[in-house]
Amino acid sequence: MDKRPIIEPFRIHTVQAIAMPSRDVREEALRRSHYNLFGLRAGEVTIDLLTDSGTGAMSTRQWAGMMLGDESYAGSSSFFRFEEVVRDLTGFSEVIPTHQGRAAEKILFATLVDDGQVVLNNNHFDTTRANVEYRGAEARDLVAAEGNDPALVAPFKGDMDIDALRSSLEADGDRVPLVMVTVTNNAGGGQPVSMANLRAVRELCDEYSVPFFLDACRFAENAWFIKTREEDYADMTPKQIAQEMFSLADGCTMSAKKDGLANIGGFLALNDERVASECRNLLILTEGFPTYGGLAGYDLEAIAQGLIEVLDEDYLRYRTRSVEYLAEKVASGGVPIVQPPGGHAVFVDARALLPHIPPQEYPAHSLAVEFYREGGVRGIELGSLAFGVPQEDGTDVPAAMELVRLAIPRRMYTQSHIDYVAEVVLDVAARAGSMGGYRIVEQAPWLRHFTARLEPVPVGSGR
Ligand code: F0G
Repeated sequence: MDKRPIIEPFRIHTVQAIAMPSRDVREEALRRSHYNLFGLRAGEVTIDLLTDSGTGAMSTRQWAGMMLGDESYAGSSSFFRFEEVVRDLTGFSEVIPTHQGRAAEKILFATLVDDGQVVLNNNHFDTTRANVEYRGAEARDLVAAEGNDPALVAPFKGDMDIDALRSSLEADGDRVPLVMVTVTNNAGGGQPVSMANLRAVRELCDEYSVPFFLDACRFAENAWFIKTREEDYADMTPKQIAQEMFSLADGCTMSAKKDGLANIGGFLALNDERVASECRNLLILTEGFPTYGGLAGYDLEAIAQGLIEVLDEDYLRYRTRSVEYLAEKVASGGVPIVQPPGGHAVFVDARALLPHIPPQEYPAHSLAVEFYREGGVRGIELGSLAFGVPQEDGTDVPAAMELVRLAIPRRMYTQSHIDYVAEVVLDVAARAGSMGGYRIVEQAPWLRHFTARLEPVPVGSGR
């Protein structure tokens, strides 16, 4: 095997300055934002790993495509290019553009999901869960047990627990309007789902006559993991593998801000004409006419080109390697992370690193704040602040895991940026024992982590 580094398969064409705020500025920014990293201004962040969503760099071909954008209200040629690319990739006949992934979810769930029903998923991501619950339905997570064990090394920790899926369909089948599988499984550490698992989900959905949808945000990264980890796929192209994944489902929701390599956009694609027509009626109400769906014509061009570029083997090899590189650096320094690293992010296991902070005091949030305080690195808490369930008595049912996600935007940062991040993580980990927790001062009734105000719990406050 070639031992040389796997390099970025592109060179830099345009640059954007990043901020280098002093420690005092960072301290003040934390206080001002009530210790909620969503409250920081981007100009106060040096390396922004808050999300890989809509934050990536576009290619010269995407920018060139944007100049071809056709802004006609109806029947824009950019829509037909977009539709052709999505149909070729997914095989779904009905293609409905939306302004981002959650809009596709909202329209689909408003059409298919009713009060008292149950949506089954390996792990619902936050907005997906909120959109299901907003319909009065239960969002039930059925990821395989290994998906909840951060340290366990296994190739497909995003897989659905097929026995649990069967039990749920047996017990609640008439209340299940659709089954979803999220590829890769973002809330569970960006872990991939195997083709064998997708096939097993398809078979069960056929047996119980329930539609099967993919939450396809990171389909290309998932396809790459299938190629490199699953028997019989090594010689297939990422595109062929992605096409096979989509062929097993009845439809998908997609945020083009991830594997669409675009800064905004998404779509809903499916085969059922009747459902699609209902969805389009809702689309007109909330997003826009079906040939633009809340996007500019130039956005449709950028997404169409992005969906082609994201399946390039050199890109996917570099992409997964750059995440793995950060993972190796921090893990070799003794920092516990979700293993193996996922496709878009390194997830630090705060429960293992900060065992002295109970889930009620949000250890992963505390760690995320320290990464920012230490080096201006902004990650995101995916633990009991994001996924804990508030109870009437003011306590929370904690989340399954307490993670900090360091998401790597696509084609944005270089190896020296990542080296810097690794050093910040290691420096914070070295003083983990002296860190304290947080308490919530103010929170919204759903998706509270975006806007909650927090304050530090004094260390040694006699818990
Ligand atoms: N599904 C998954 C698995 C996601 O990760 C996201 C977004 C969505 C749906 C919604 O898509 O943002 O375009 O509306 N995840 C982003 C993140 C926000 O940071 O992981 P959207």
